Formats: sequence, C-alpha cells, structure tokens
Amino acid sequence: MEQHSILDALQWRYAVKKFDSSRKIPAKEWALLEESLRLSPSSYGLQPWKFIRVKTPEVLQQLRAESWNQSQVTDCSDYVVFTTRTEMLESDVDEFLKLQSGIRGTPMEKLQGYRDVILGDIVKGPRSAQAANWAQRQSYIAMGFIMETAALIGVDTCPMEGLDPKAYDRILGLESTGYRTVAAVALGYRHAEDRYAGEKKVRYPISRIMETR
Ligand SMILES: Cc1cc2nc3c(=O)[nH]c(=O)nc-3n(C[C@H](O)[C@H](O)[C@H](O)COP(=O)(O)O)c2cc1C
Repeated sequence: MEQHSILDALQWRYAVKKFDSSRKIPAKEWALLEESLRLSPSSYGLQPWKFIRVKTPEVLQQLRAESWNQSQVTDCSDYVVFTTRTEMLESDVDEFLKLQSGIRGTPMEKLQGYRDVILGDIVKGPRSAQAANWAQRQSYIAMGFIMETAALIGVDTCPMEGLDPKAYDRILGLESTGYRTVAAVALGYRHAEDRYAGEKKVRYPISRIMETR
C-alpha cells in the first residue's frame, strides 16, 4: 500500500461519536477485521484474550447504560468487547505450546525451555501478581490493529473506555470465566451529521513526542 494512502486513511479515521445505524459491515470486511485481531502480537504469543462481538439489541442497550449512555454502543454495526485473562495458568501455556507444536511441527520436548521461561515469569514468577494488568496491555495492541485495519478499508471505529468494566462483566456473564472486560471498540460507518468528522486532528508535532539519541 502506498504511503500517501496509509496517511490518508489515518487522517480519515477519527473516534466516531455518531454512527449511521442503517449501515452494516459486510461479511467479507468483517472477516478481515476479525483476522486482524487474530494476527495481533502478544507477549510470548499467549493471546490472553477473548473478543466478544455483541449482536443482541437488548444486551447492547444494557451495555450502553453502563457506558455513559454513549450512542455508539447501540448505533454501530458491530460492537466488540475486549476481555482478558485475570491470571495465567500452566494449562494456558500448555494449550498454547500444543498449538505451536502442531502448527510448526516442533516436538513438545523442544519447547520445554520456553515453557519454563514463561512459567517462571507470568505464571509463577514475580510478574504473576500483575498478570491481569499484563493481559490488559496486550489487548490494547489488538485494539490498535483492528482500528487501523478498519481505517485502511474505510470502516469507522470508536475505541471505548468510557464504560464500567464490572457492569459489563455482570451483563456478559464473565465473572466465573477467568476473563474480565477491559474496553470495547465500536465499528461501522459514521453518520453524515457527525460533526466530529470534520474536526482537525489535535496532535503534538513529532519534535514534541519523539527523541533521537
Ligand atoms: C483507549 C481509548 C479509549 C477511548 N474511549 C472513548 C470513549 O469512551 N468515548 C469516545 O467517544 N471516545 C473515546 N476515545 C477516543 C479519544 O477521545 C480520541 O481517540 C482522541 O480524542 C483523539 O481523537 P481521534 O481519535 O478522533 O483522532 C478513546 C480513545 C482511546 C485510545
């Protein structure tokens, strides 16, 4: 993709405040957006997340009430709640290593060293106490991936942190699942009357945010 079209897409993207509720993301585009979540990188490759695409109107209404009543929740085409693991277990690591072994043909014995490193860190090591926080950070990468992919194919988004994660957990029945809500992304198409679409980007110059040493 050419540089100028990437820049155009990034300038075109903005956090949509008002979606056109009559427009839905076609299946082909949706498949690409999902795939961008699946291909997102994560620490050790462990993918400590589950993305919940909420389609049921009644549930969306309930979520909206716990999201500062933001209209994006109910007016977007697809609402994705990002949830992550509260802790990482030995079984999570083994599930992932089995997958890797199957896909790459690496015998499980050869992955023992890698297994020990992960267990000694995020599962049983000093960082295990912060595993939930660690997992949440991974999910923001996936949020970035889906939003940029969406912009590149002309699909609008709004990242949503203005919500009550505990209320989401209750509504989505997450309490006993080992997953908790982090944030959400609303996807769809901007309403012609969303005045935010025409606003200039408010960004510091590169000189303010970037250092070369
Ligand atoms: C993690 C995160 C959470 C956000 N939560 C909300 C939100 O709940 N509602 C909203 O309207 N915008 C939300 N925003 C959008 C930001 O306000 C917006 O990205 C920022 O002002 C820059 O503007 P732009 O994205 O339109 O360029 C969020 C952005 C991020 C990255």
